[in-house]
Amino acid sequence: MKKVLFIDCCIRREDSRTKKLADHVFHRLRERSDCQVEELCLMDENLTYFSDGFFQQRERLLAQKNYDHPRFRYANQFSEADKIIIAAPFWDLSFPALLKVYIENLCVEGITFGCDETGMFGTCKADHMIFLTTRGAIYPKGDPMEMGSPYLEAMSRFFGIDRYDCVAADGLDLGIRPVNEIMREAMEEADRVLDEL
Ligand SMILES: Cc1cc2nc3c(=O)[nH]c(=O)nc-3n(C[C@H](O)[C@H](O)[C@H](O)COP(=O)(O)O)c2cc1C
Repeated sequence: MKKVLFIDCCIRREDSRTKKLADHVFHRLRERSDCQVEELCLMDENLTYFSDGFFQQRERLLAQKNYDHPRFRYANQFSEADKIIIAAPFWDLSFPALLKVYIENLCVEGITFGCDETGMFGTCKADHMIFLTTRGAIYPKGDPMEMGSPYLEAMSRFFGIDRYDCVAADGLDLGIRPVNEIMREAMEEADRVLDEL
């Protein structure tokens, strides 16, 4: 049984097109007998970015190697999953700050990564990360204005996750092609990627 961690950062919730893509993937996974899906809705979490006392607490806990402290629950949950799926819209050339705050909470030396004289290395169990997104305009792979997916691909490598796929519905706000058509194509692409999960 594969443990799939499904991270929902679709800020507009039921109005979100990214959420519709995510729901499609979520239902596909639910149909599978080889997957056990755990959902984490970031909008329902009380996530806090690092400042002052919150940062210092982390340093103290790390010095004590107190990895079971509740504040490391996100890092522990992430590092133990077999597969990671992240859904977030394209905002301001990347993704919402809430996802960045979550990632900040994931990066814990001793849980999600390690460090020795050779450098840093990922220690997460997962072997595949999938990023689901929708974008207002069109960004071909490698476009320097698109900094969401390349960043998550780098984070995936940092955590030691070998395979990364991005499924994107592009050009939803341009009015050039029908939204339903673009979304259907993205769902079909997601199905192909899920076949290899
Ligand atoms: C705060 C905000 C920032 C956005 N920034 C961009 C952007 O930089 N480039 C772009 O092409 N679209 C941008 N968009 C449009 C969204 O990417 C697009 O509408 C997407 O489908 C929204 O996803 P959602 O329906 O899941 O919320 C932005 C939308 C919002 C609300």
